[in-house]
Formats: sequence, C-alpha cells, structure tokens
Amino acid sequence: MGKDFSKLDVETLDKGQARAELARLADEIARHDKLYYSDNAPDIDDGQYDRLRQRNDAIEARFPDLVRADSPSMRVGAAPVDAFASAPHRTAMLSLGNAFTPEDVEDFLARVRRFLSLSDEAELTVVAEPKIDGLSVSLSYEDGLLVRAATRGDGQVGEDVTHNIRTISEIPEKISGKFVPDLVDVRGEIYMSHDDFERLNEAQEKGGQKVFANPRNAAAGSLRQLDPAVTAKRPLRFFAYAAGEAGALAAASADASGAPIESQSDILAQFKSWGFPVNPLVTRCDSAEELMAFYDKVALGRAELGYDIDGVVYKIDDLGLQARLGFVSRAPRWAIAHKFPAEKAVTQVEAIEIQVGRTGALTPVAKLVPVTVGGVVVSNASLHNQDEIERKDVRVGDWVVVQRAGDVIPQIVEVVKEKRKKGLKPFVFPDSCPACGSPAERVVDPKTGTAEAIRRCVGGFGCPAQAQERLKHFVSRNAFDIEGLGDKQIAAFYHEGRVRSPAAIFTLAARDEDGLTRLKNMDGWGEKSAAKLFAAIEARREIGLDRFIYALGIRHVGETTARDLARHY
Ligand code: IVH
Repeated sequence: MGKDFSKLDVETLDKGQARAELARLADEIARHDKLYYSDNAPDIDDGQYDRLRQRNDAIEARFPDLVRADSPSMRVGAAPVDAFASAPHRTAMLSLGNAFTPEDVEDFLARVRRFLSLSDEAELTVVAEPKIDGLSVSLSYEDGLLVRAATRGDGQVGEDVTHNIRTISEIPEKISGKFVPDLVDVRGEIYMSHDDFERLNEAQEKGGQKVFANPRNAAAGSLRQLDPAVTAKRPLRFFAYAAGEAGALAAASADASGAPIESQSDILAQFKSWGFPVNPLVTRCDSAEELMAFYDKVALGRAELGYDIDGVVYKIDDLGLQARLGFVSRAPRWAIAHKFPAEKAVTQVEAIEIQVGRTGALTPVAKLVPVTVGGVVVSNASLHNQDEIERKDVRVGDWVVVQRAGDVIPQIVEVVKEKRKKGLKPFVFPDSCPACGSPAERVVDPKTGTAEAIRRCVGGFGCPAQAQERLKHFVSRNAFDIEGLGDKQIAAFYHEGRVRSPAAIFTLAARDEDGLTRLKNMDGWGEKSAAKLFAAIEARREIGLDRFIYALGIRHVGETTARDLARHY
C-alpha cells in the first residue's frame, strides 16, 4: 500500500495507478482547501495548488470512469464548515397573511381601501404572483457584488448560506447596469423543478442515499449542506420577488439617472434587468375579478408549471401605498397569500394502464403528469374498476383533480371537463387480459343477477402476470418469508424461466448445479449472494400449516382464515 505515483507522467499511468493517484489527490486537495478556506492558513502557493488540480483533471480526462464522488473537480469554492454562521437580517423577513376564499380576498381589498381612505371606485393596482413552494432567502449586494446570502430563519436572524448560494448559476454574483444601489437585499425563493427532483431522487436511490419526499424538502436539504460541493451538484433554482427594503431602493433609484422605482412591478423589472429570474406569470390586476381570474388560471395551470406552488400572492403595487399601509404583527398589510386547498391538485392523465393482480383482478391505474399533492409527488392514481372509470368518464388526455386523503392511494376526484380537448375517446375497458390474452370476465352474482364490479382474467397460473403476483405472495413476509427473494428477483426469475411455479423455488438450487446459466453468473448476483439465497430457501422447506395455506393465495383466504383452517385440519 501507499506506493507513490506522484512523480509519474499522467500518460504513463495504468488504471490501478490512476485510481491510487486520484485518491491521493482528492485527499491532498481537500486538505489544502481546508487550510485555505477554513483555517486561513495555506501551506502551498497558488501555483502548486493549481498544478495539483490540473493533474487531477488530466487523470480524470484519461480515465473518466474513475472519477470519484469526492473528486475536487466536482467542487467549487469553499470547503465544508462545521455549522452555519447566524446572519441577522437588515430588515426582517416577514410572513404573509392567508386568504382561502374569494370573500377573504375581497375583505383584504376592503381593508386596504379603508386604511387608505380610498373609495370603492378609486383605482388600486395589485400585483398577482404565484406563491413558490420553496424556501426564502435574502441576498445582500453591496456595490453590485453578492456579499451575503441568508435563509429566513426566524425572520430576524437566518443562517449564512453564502457559499452554497454562490453555486447556483441562476443567481448573479454581480449586478450591473444603469442603476446599481450601494446596498440592496434581493429576496426570493429557492426551489427545485419536478424534473430535477425526480432525477435527484433516482440518483439518490441508486447511490443508496436519502430519498426526498418532495421538491421543497429536496431544495431545503440541498441548500442547507455544510459542504458547498454537495449543493453545487444539486439543481437549485431561484425566483426573485421582493426587495428587503423597498423604500430605500425607491429612494436610491430616485437619485440615480435610470428609471425611478415606484412600485412592486418596477422592482421586478429592475431585478429582471439585473439578471435575476422573475416569475413569468406575474400579472398586474385592477379589480377583485381580475385577481380571481388570475387565481383560477394559475390553479388550473399548476401541473404544467414544472415546479411547486402553493397559492398566489397579491401585493399592492404602489410602494408609497405600501409604506402607508405598513405591517401588522409579522405580516404586511399590503400583501396576502391566497392559498390553494391543501390536498388537491389538477394534473393530466397520460395513460390508463391495466394491472393484473394475484387473483386475476384487472385494476385500471391512471398514469399522471407528476404533481405534488399535500407534500407528496403523485404520478399514479387508482381508478378502481370499470364502473368507476365510466362513472367519472376519465379519458386519456383529460385534466383531473387528484386528491390524497391521509395515507391512502391518491384518488381522482373528477375530470375538469372545461379543459377537455375535442376528440378524446372514452376509455374502453379491455375484455381480455392485457398480460396473457385470456378472457377477462365479470362474475354475475346468481342471487342478485348483477355483475361483480371487478373484471378478472381467467388465465390462472397460465397468465404471466397472475403467476408472478402469486409467486410474490407465496414468498412474502407472512407466507413462506424467503429472504432475498423479492419482487425484482421473482420478475427476473420468471422471465428467465428459472422459476414459474412455487414448487420450482425448491428445486432451484439442484437445477442450478448443472445449469448452463448459473445464478452466480447473472447480472446482480455473485457466488455469495446465490449461495445465500439457496440457504434461505432451504431454511423454509418446512413452515407452519397456517402460513402454508395463506401462501397458496386462495381468494377470500387471508391470514385469519388460514389460521382457522390450519387449526381445524
Ligand atoms: S412576498 C413581505 N412573494 O411565502 C412579503 N413571498 O408565507 C414577503 N413566497 O416566506 C413575501 N412566493 O417564502 C412573496 N411571490 C412571492 C412568494 C413568497 C413564495 C413565500 C416566502 C414567504 C412566504 C410567506
């Protein structure tokens, strides 16, 4: 161990030497990063440091498959810190009052008018914006340079996340243009798009790491990383929506040569010209009706946005009026959040798939454009059965209201008929099994003469879907409980023809001995894991009669009935 390849030319390294060199360089560079950034005590000069990084890059270019997770090439800027420094806000970061109904919104406008002694007829412009569901940050720029970024914290004091914020490409390091104030706090929301969220979770899962429940958690977890190198790899985004101290910004702009800033719309336009992302849906409205139309439009378009919002925000546009209105407790009188009902969302049906269960039941499942409902991304909803689809008239391509009640599978509440495109055809429920082609029948109750709600494939064990589901049930925790034989393995074994019946599980090891395609040579298997599985099967040759009966997966015979039967026989 510990051989020194540091003197060898990159071109002459073999793979093993390259791997060792990359490990050494990762350590070495990390050590210098810490000395430089955290301890402020570098012990090599910039040239030497650069050469280490260049050598690392050159080896990675020759051996791209050796790039380490902790590679210095993945890291920008500072080394990890032990904890975030606290960052007091120059002006408090406030929260917003909530409105849930159109009446609440009218009350808000009436309050504002009363406070300002405006008649019902007097003009009052309100800016309507989507309420981004992420986490708010305050970005301080001095003479146009980003000097500090802080989370909201308790509104008075946040956490200093400057290093992490600097890794977000959508946030300018420097603002320039006609008007650059000495001091400005740009406030807005850090968020993660649905696509990026899904990709991140896939990668996390593959790497055996934490999977995030929703894009907001993912964004918060990504921003609050002690190591900025981790944040740098996370796809964070930003929308700017408020100035820390709008009054000061307005005053500064009045002294400058550019266009004066007199309203929330002016602030957003200024942010845009500085290079900040500003939400494209922001609309100026002149009446309660316009606000409601904005709300409806945004609510209906929510699933197509590609990121989460949890309502809309209305802000009195004029900064002079805002100043007069001021604040009550911790929220401005000049703004209000109009929240969406929590557990519902509108999204589109991409497909209706039929799943075949263990007992042959055909269950329709709507594949949805992913949408967050009550903090969880939903992409499937059960449609239960044929009658249910017909009753709700759900068609592929339809926009639907989905709802999550408690922990149950998401439901489709109703179709948004106004959004239905012409030409969408009613869903035709198959009368044969999509997995095996056998007839799928609805059993008629001889007593009542009515057909069962559920259509079933009559293929039995001959149906690959039923066979696999039965096998999964057979080996499941409360049945044969064979460790290492999960859904994935059952599916693979079934496709390979290795196991197609419960009995075949118990001849697996014997057949493997003289087989051509031995399990240990298959993808994802090795000598050890194969031997372990065979041992697990061996250990379950004898089980209790109740478990055995349950494992058979007879309709209407659950664990309790199986136990009763076992006792009786
Ligand atoms: S304005 C003084 N605008 O909502 C007003 N906030 O419930 C400051 N938020 O903490 C907020 N989108 O994290 C404003 N377009 C928007 C927003 C927005 C999301 C968040 C923000 C704030 C929370 C208040």
